Amino acid sequence: MAGKFITFEGGEGSGKSTQIRLLGDFLQTCNITVSLTKEPGGTPLGQELRRILVEGDIEKMDAKSEALLFFADRRIHLTQKVWPSLEQNQWVLSDRFADSTMAYQYYAYHQRLSKEDIKMLYGFSVGTFAPDLTFILDIDPKIGLERSFQKATTMSVKELRNEQRELAFHENLRKGYLEIARENSNRCVVLDAHQTVDSLHEQIVSVVKKRFEL
Ligand code: TMP
Repeated sequence: MAGKFITFEGGEGSGKSTQIRLLGDFLQTCNITVSLTKEPGGTPLGQELRRILVEGDIEKMDAKSEALLFFADRRIHLTQKVWPSLEQNQWVLSDRFADSTMAYQYYAYHQRLSKEDIKMLYGFSVGTFAPDLTFILDIDPKIGLERSFQKATTMSVKELRNEQRELAFHENLRKGYLEIARENSNRCVVLDAHQTVDSLHEQIVSVVKKRFEL
């Protein structure tokens, strides 16, 4: 495929959406056509799944059903948006992708599913396709959750299903992301999300320029 697929990962309130927007603006100045998207909910159908997944009671479904819904959203996202955009030479920047499932549904959830379960679902729904580059925005969950609740109050957002979980969940999540980065060191770059928006953006741009020779 002609375009590049760059994913952004991290805990709640790590600033992914702001950084995606800024990187999108930068790439446009390089005459690259960019598509900004997210999981869950990067397509109209996915939006319906997103509502089920991010709103409501924490324990409203078991771990396997939840993982299947995340992969259903992902497969719809890939077939209806990501792959067609890449084929048209666009660069796709996605707010979350499959590392989120490994981080949330395996590491943070006290390993209710096995790594093999998640890898099997990946193979079934994604195949051998993978991001060209993944940024993991690392943040202390106490700070990230504070930001996330603040945003939810100002914007009247109801999507707080995961935010309500205990701090240990978010601490496991953070450790999980760092483990994923270690296991996939060619693809993943961990950046400190406690710094200012501008300095984080500069670091992201410098990695992208070097990686893709812009
Ligand atoms: P967002 O708030 O970053 O848009 O993500 C929605 C929530 O869904 C967030 O709490 C992370 C969670 N999530 C998973 O648990 N597994 C997944 O595979 C994905 C994509 C998101």
